[in-house]
Amino acid sequence: MTERKLFLLPGDGIGPEAMAEVHKLISWMNEQGAGFTTDEGLVGGCAYDAHGQAISEDDMAKAVAADAVLFGAVGGPKWDSVPYEVRPEAGLLRLRKDMELFANLRPAICYPALAASSSLKPEVVEGLDILIVRELTGGVYFGEPKEIIDLGNGQKRGIDTQVYDTYEIERITGVACELAKTRSNKVCSMEKHNVMKSGVLWKEVVSDYHKRNYPDVELSHMLADAGGMQLVRWPKQFDVIVTDNLFGDMLSDVAAMLTGSLGMLPSASLGAPDAKTGKRKALYEPVHGSAPDIAGQQKANPIAMIASFAMCLRYSFEMIEEATRLETAIANVLDKGIRTADIAAAGDSPVSTSQMGDAILEEYKALSA
Ligand code: IPM
Ligand code: MG
Repeated sequence: MTERKLFLLPGDGIGPEAMAEVHKLISWMNEQGAGFTTDEGLVGGCAYDAHGQAISEDDMAKAVAADAVLFGAVGGPKWDSVPYEVRPEAGLLRLRKDMELFANLRPAICYPALAASSSLKPEVVEGLDILIVRELTGGVYFGEPKEIIDLGNGQKRGIDTQVYDTYEIERITGVACELAKTRSNKVCSMEKHNVMKSGVLWKEVVSDYHKRNYPDVELSHMLADAGGMQLVRWPKQFDVIVTDNLFGDMLSDVAAMLTGSLGMLPSASLGAPDAKTGKRKALYEPVHGSAPDIAGQQKANPIAMIASFAMCLRYSFEMIEEATRLETAIANVLDKGIRTADIAAAGDSPVSTSQMGDAILEEYKALSA
């Protein structure tokens, strides 16, 4: 039997509650012979409390060695004043950087049952299926210098550096075009070439790389601010959006909310395929944060976490059938009107995190029978 090595990092806030629901699925799939092994580590505030780091060297090594990492969420007011280098988010950023997870896939799908929960009109979001491909290991998140300097005259200066090299833009363009081929074959690249040199290069490299390698994929360009506006005006015009780290962070939150709730959106962060094995390093995480205000109360929506596990089945283990079945299970449960508080309408009585997880597991079992 193939061993499938998962490393779980539930993290802080609602992370552990959401991860518990994935655990139930893994256990059941293992009873059917899926062969997952799981190990668990600490990341974020809980890791800081345990050993003064946002992630330990030991857990970093385990993440690198795993076939896939499942990540919950990090952060909370409790750690607002810890030193910058060991703040909870540093654990996530280190995982992305050290594992070279340059391609972040953030699908925004509007389940029919939830069209009414969106803040936009149902006809604008119904049937929405777009994919944001966010560059994840470059740009202003990691560029140097990154510092606050004392100017000595009572003033300080905060500096972040936006920097992109050709190869970074080319490889993310490649991922976006490859994925577009499996969907509606359209890529829209977003940057701000009207004010940023990195935007000028971004646009140029995307165009060249596309022309040389993917002439059959339909490519368009949009300024990122206009892209944000178009995303809330008529999102269905998009298929795949490719953009840099910071714009991708913002645009994916916008896209997430189109679908009804941040609690619905999964993501996959992938590295380059290994030259020998063809396997990619990978981390799967919900787009939502740790939601400390509702943590520990069984109010969180576990769907983004469970859908992230579905992406893991698809991209890390080629378990395409199982992935699709799990996504169908989520859609069916929503069709039945089962709702956590974040997606409940007036008059619905919301279910708990674990009730939602149980409902999805039962539906998954039924679909597997
Ligand atoms: C995300 C988050 C992270 C980011 C934070 C937690 C560092 O907002 O994954 O979108 O900014 O990338
Ligand atoms: Mg974000």
